[in-house]
Parts: sequence; structure tokens; C-alpha cells
Amino acid sequence: MSLPPEHPLVTGVTQSSPLITAYRGTRPERTPVWFMRQAGRSLPEYRELRIGTAMLDACLDPAMASEITLQPIRRHRTDAAIFFSDIVVPLKQAGVVVEIVPGRGPVMGSAVRTAAEVDALVALDPAVLDDTLAPIREGVALTVAGLAGIGDGSTPLIGFAGAPFTLAAYLVEGGPSKDHLAARTLMHADPESWAKLMAWCADVTGRFLRAQVLAGASAAQLFDSWAGALSLEDYERHVAPASRAALAHVADLPVPKVHFGVGTGELLGAMHRVGADVVGIDYRLALDEGIRRLGGGVPVQGNIDPALLAAPWSVLEAHVLDILQRGTAAPAHVLNLGHGVPPETDPDVLTRIVALAHDWQPA
Ligand code: CP3
Repeated sequence: MSLPPEHPLVTGVTQSSPLITAYRGTRPERTPVWFMRQAGRSLPEYRELRIGTAMLDACLDPAMASEITLQPIRRHRTDAAIFFSDIVVPLKQAGVVVEIVPGRGPVMGSAVRTAAEVDALVALDPAVLDDTLAPIREGVALTVAGLAGIGDGSTPLIGFAGAPFTLAAYLVEGGPSKDHLAARTLMHADPESWAKLMAWCADVTGRFLRAQVLAGASAAQLFDSWAGALSLEDYERHVAPASRAALAHVADLPVPKVHFGVGTGELLGAMHRVGADVVGIDYRLALDEGIRRLGGGVPVQGNIDPALLAAPWSVLEAHVLDILQRGTAAPAHVLNLGHGVPPETDPDVLTRIVALAHDWQPA
């Protein structure tokens, strides 16, 4: 199957945008920039709209999800929108009891730790998602229609999903954790149950990603936020096959695929090899060193240290210019943060970074 005829990549609306050009490996006329978590609590208009609505209810309200997605594009003129949703939305739609607790993150109704608990989870049929993801398809379609009316109308929407390991880390722990100990224990103590759990997560999250792309997203980003907790050996053996299976859900669709995780300096090559076109680099590794570790031929995204968003402008400006310069070692570079926008960020700082990136040219 290919993309539907009205898809913005097929009609040509987003095809030659700076973001898609860079994701395909060609340096565009200006460096594209967007921010992970650009939609969210740093924006007063977001905080106002969200009053009285729980996070996951907001994600499943197509009009609200679309409006929140568009807010940062109107305000900052970033080169991409990222669909307002969450990595646990497909788990909820598949029948998992989950809630997002403000200031904490996803909390599950119960942890999945034993072979019997894994079996009970994987008995939930991921095929239900094809119906239960209707609000996501509707939200994406509304967003794509809205983007056509902002600026020159060519801003692409990025669809996203959580990678199987990051989802499993929440499922096995039952909620957020620091070291993902229980997940890593299960991986080794019962590799068979672990593999079943990972395959189920890959199917669920892959369907979520595919639904967004078919509904109009021009790129797909897989977040393996917590993969940095793993050794390269564990990643390749116990995680990479499932990440590959998740991306296989969109492998036949001609959208660029981006793969990102936090603290994954040792895993970059392996994360690229699961089927990504672009690799996101977090702030712990110098961008040019990340580019080098990827062999020099892979477009990259990153890696402003979110902590510097609160530093004086002169300090932040020097940091951003340094990253832009280091990014010239890659065939193309999309400026982004090394992780999400902290909620207390002054949004005017983000607008200023967009202008700085757009004015910048390689020396
Ligand atoms: O603007 C965007 O980047 C798009 C929206 C987006 C959200 N979550 C919205 C959200 C994206 C891409 C995500 C992905 C996500 N969710 C990841 C991977 C990316 C990453 O940050 O590493 C992870 C690990 C999650 C799980 C999750 N959901 C966490 C850790 C939290 C934060 C909890 C908190 O309150 O600090 C959430 C909630 C969440 N997801 C918020 C937003 C805007 C905050 C909810 C709120 O406004 O109350």
C-alpha cells in the first residue's frame, strides 16, 4: 500500500519543505528547526486550553489535539509540527489501564512482571486499534488542514510513537522509573516472556505510527527515550528486533523515519540500523562526534541542551551557533533540543532560536 492521493507528500505540499529535504539527506537553503515537546506547558495558550481536561482525554479529542499541535507553529514558526499525543495512547486504546499523572508521567493500573501477566497483556488484540485509533486519524487530518493555513502552508506534520523498549519500561515498572531495573531484570530472567512483550508492543505502537502517517503525517519519529539504560549488547539482542518490527509498520510508506533516545551515544549505529533514515542525538554527546559515530553519511537531529534555555541569551546563542557549525559534518542537520522543552521555559526564547537558525548560514 502507498500513501493516499490527498497525502501532503503526494500532493507535493510538504515534499520540498526544509524539514523533509533535510530528512532525506540534502542540506536545504535554511536549517530547519523544531523542538521536542514544543506543544505543552511552556505555552500559556496550552495551559489555558487544557484546564479541566486530563492529558489522555485531550489526546483523544481531535479538535483539541489539533489545536494544541498548531499552537507552537503559529507562535514560533518552527519547520515542523509534531502531533500532540502520547506514547501510551495506543496502549490505552488497546485496553491497558493507564493514566498520565501531571509532573510524573504514565502510571499503569498494574505492573506486567510475570509470565502470566505478560500472557494476559498480549491476549489484548492489537487489531482493535484499527477502530480505536479513529480520533487519532481525525486529529491528524484536522491538523494537516490547519497547517495549510499557516505561513506558506508547507509545514510538515511529524507523527510519532514510543519504541517497544520505552513502552515496556513503563508496563513492567508500572510507571516511571529511574533505571528501568524491573524491565531489564525481566529481559534476562525470562527472555521468552520478554520477547512476547516486545513483539506485542511493536505491533501496538507500529499501528499507532502507521495510522498517523496514512492520515497525513509527512515524517515518523520513533522515541526510544529510555534505551540509554541498555548496553549495546542487550540493545541489539533484546530490543533492536522489536524496534525494527515497529518501524516495519511504516517501511512501505515513503516518509522519512527518525529514531531518538536519551543517553544513546553508544547505541547510535544500532538505532540507525533498525530502519531509521535520521538519528536524533541527545545533549550528552557533541553533535559532530555523533555524526562521526554514524559514519558521516546519516542526517541528524539535535542537540541543544535544554538546561541552556534558561541561561542568558548570549550563552544560549553561542551554544546554538556551535551546534549549527558541528552539524555541517552531516549531510543535513535538523536543529532540535537534546530532549524535551522544560515546562518552565520562556517561549520567547524558543522563537528566538528559530529566527537564529533561519538566519544562519554555514561558514
Ligand atoms: O510537542 C510534542 O513533542 C508532542 C507531544 C508529545 C507528548 N508526549 C505530549 C505530552 C510527545 C512526542 C510525547 C512523547 C513521550 N511521552 C515520550 C517520548 C519523548 C520523551 O520526552 O522522551 C515519553 C517518554 C512520554 C511519556 C510521558 N508523557 C512523560 C514522561 C510525560 C511527562 C509527565 C510530566 O508531567 O512531566 C508525559 C505527559 C505529557 N506528554 C505531557 C505532554 C505535553 C505533559 C502533560 C501535561 O501537560 O500535563
